This record gives sequence, structure tokens and C-alpha cells, in this order.
Amino acid sequence: MNLLIIGSGGREHALAWKIKQSNKIDNLFVAPGNAGTADIATNLPIGVSDFEAIKKAVLENDINMVLVGPEVPLVEGIHNFFLADNQLKSIPVIGPDKEGAQLEGSKDFAKAFMAKYDIPTAKYFTATSENLEEGIAFLKTMQAPYVLKADGLAAGKGVLIIEDLAEAENQLREMLGGMFGAASAKVVIEEFLSGVECSVFVMTDGKNYKVLPEAKDYKRIGEGDTGLNTGGMGAITPVPFANEEFMAKVEERVIKRTIDGLQQENIKYKGFIFLGLISVKGEPYVIEYNVRMGDPETEAVMLRVKSDFVELLEGIAEENLNERTLEFDERTACTVFLVSGGYPGDYQKNIPMTNLEEVNNSILFHAGTTVKDNQLVTAGGRVIAVSSYGESMEAALKQSYENAAKIKYEGVYYRKDLGFDL
Ligand code: AMP
Ligand code: GLY
Repeated sequence: MNLLIIGSGGREHALAWKIKQSNKIDNLFVAPGNAGTADIATNLPIGVSDFEAIKKAVLENDINMVLVGPEVPLVEGIHNFFLADNQLKSIPVIGPDKEGAQLEGSKDFAKAFMAKYDIPTAKYFTATSENLEEGIAFLKTMQAPYVLKADGLAAGKGVLIIEDLAEAENQLREMLGGMFGAASAKVVIEEFLSGVECSVFVMTDGKNYKVLPEAKDYKRIGEGDTGLNTGGMGAITPVPFANEEFMAKVEERVIKRTIDGLQQENIKYKGFIFLGLISVKGEPYVIEYNVRMGDPETEAVMLRVKSDFVELLEGIAEENLNERTLEFDERTACTVFLVSGGYPGDYQKNIPMTNLEEVNNSILFHAGTTVKDNQLVTAGGRVIAVSSYGESMEAALKQSYENAAKIKYEGVYYRKDLGFDL
């Protein structure tokens, strides 16, 4: 079959790498892709939200399945666009429709859903400019630190965690006043939960589900989890604290109730559910839902999927995921992200990259890279991920760090302390 992946990051390169290993694939396309996906697939220069151009490419290239990497086209309704088009409706889209995508596209929707289906999560109140006084009253019943979340998509920047009550009140007014544009017309005020976080990935056809290996990602730029938030500095799978007992609770209290709730709401959900979880003294709580795979988690998780991934995607499309097998590699896998100097603040692009050919026993997943005049150059803040296997977490990380040190470009930075907390 011919398969199209939508997106351009390390996640999409890792998905392409895994999918390419399936003997079911004739031609693999990525739109728009990056310099890494260009090596293993055909890049199509199309933006992820340009549905008309995607339609044209799907028809021209006889695409039989579309896998959507990022959340934005899902929230914008790419799945609905396919279903509403006579030429496209028989082509499966892996990723939920607009309604299902609200689990990520609206924090208020997600919180109300969790409340309705008894899925453990932090206490909350949704504030708007109409009920601001009530919102402030709720805020005052919380203890520091105060958690404020823009309702809509805000490119990962919509969550504020604030120590001081007066400051939280100010920020709440600012958010409702348009700090994140329309995304913060509603603000979810949440109880702060204290614990360790991990990401759990569920594949579902709407009724059946399979749980992929869990992972821990590292979001802060600085060692010891300090400094600004980034798109992700690395990830490790498996996560030691997510043991059998914890995962059994996740399955009973979160996964089953989520799938059941989606069915009760008549939402036909076909794709990935990414659970951002926090373990509070061994009890799982949902911090957030995402409606796609995680980045950088995918760059580690794909290494641990032994089964044919296309078989599983077909299981989602054909609603018989229960008949498919998902086997794991028992080894640890990790990914270490190399970023541009200055990131997540200002940074330069178009910096030549060298020595990639010296890397061995790791897999490189490109994110912000491109080719200019036959030279590989940087093209983003997060540049390239170095993924490795190991018999232990330490061994996997050592392998990635050895190879990370070989890649040269001006300003290269990566965290050298991944796994410090595990
Ligand atoms: P989100 O964008 O929802 O993933 O939030 C970003 C980060 O804020 C999460 O990864 C958590 O580290 C933190 N966070 C969000 N909500 C809470 C909460 N209720 N309690 C503690 N930390 C939180
Ligand atoms: N790793 C977090 C995310 O993909 O949103």
C-alpha cells in the first residue's frame, strides 16, 4: 500500500522509519517531512493544514492510508474533511475526527469528559470573563502553586504554574483578556498535583485498544529539569515506576473508562490517545490528553515495537485491532535531542551539520533539518534526535551520548542528565 504521514518532526521521521520496515508498504510519503524523512520516503511540500493540497496529493499518488502526526490538522478536522469528500471517504485516516480531537483541543472538554466518566484527574473550574468572580473564588480554595491552563491549543505554552495567589489572579485576568488569543477565552483552573510524570500511548479503533510502551520525556532545557520548557529534550522507555501494578490501575481507571466514554458520547475515535499521567503516591491521575503520539517519546517508543506497525494501523482502520499482535522489545530505548544554541529562545538556522556518518549503533531521527546546496543544515530549534537501545537505561543513554558527541554544528546543545530522576 501507499501511505502518507502528515507532519515534519522527529516523531514523523520515527513513524516513517518504523512503517518503512513493513513489507506491506510500496510507497511512503511524508508531508512536508524533513531531510531525514527524505532519505527513506518521498517528501511532499505541503503544509499540514492545507487539506485541499493534501487531497490532490492523495489522489495523484494513489495513497491508501493517511497517518496524522501532529494535533493541529486533527483539531482542524482533517478526518472530517476526508469523510465528507466522495473521492476520499474510503481512504482511512489514522487520527480522530474533530470531536474526538477535542480531548486535546479543549482542556475544558477534556476535564468535563473525565468528570463524567470518573477518570482520575485534578479538581478544576473553568473560568470565562462571564464567571470571573466565581473563578477567583475557586482559585482561592486551591493551595499554591496555582495551575492555569488556556482551554485551546497554544503550541505547548498555554499552561502557567504560579506560586503567588495575587499573581495567579492577575494572570487569570490576562489570559481571559487574550494572552493566548482565542485559546484562552476559557481558562481551566486546576489543583496542583505533586508526583512523577509519564506518557502512556493507546492505539484504538474506537472499541478495541492496545497499549504501546510507556515513556518519560524531559521538557525543560536545563539539567535537573530547570529553565524554560521546550518541545522535548529526550525520552526514555520503559519507565521504572510505571510497573505492572501502576499500569493495571491506568488500564482500569483511565484507558477503559476513556474508550467507554468515547463510545457513550458516540465519538468514533480511530487513532492514538496519549495520556499525560502523573503518579501521586502510586495512584495515576490524568494531567492531559493528547490525540496523537508524543514527541520526543515516539523517537524512543518506536524502537520497542517489534510487530509490524502497518498491521496495527490497519487494525485501527478496519476496526479489528483486537485481532492484531503488538509485541515489545524488552530492551530499554532512549532518545537524546540535539538543539540549536539559544533554543528555546532565539536561535539561528541554516548552520551546516557534519559528521552524521560517524554515528553507529544509534538511529538518527531528524526534526529541524533541511538540505541547502547539497549541505545538511539546521532548520529549527530541536534539530536531531539520537535514539539507542540498551540492556539498561544507563547503557542506552551511554550509547546515545557517545554518538551525540560526534555530531557537529555551531551551538549544538543537549542535556547530559536524562534519566537522573528515574
Ligand atoms: P500540559 O500542557 O497540560 O501537559 O501541562 C504542562 C506541564 O505542566 C505538565 O507536563 C505538568 O508538568 C504540569 N502540570 C499541568 N497540570 C498540572 C497539575 N494539575 N499539577 C501539577 N503539574 C501540572
Ligand atoms: N512530549 C509531549 C508532547 O508530545 O506533547
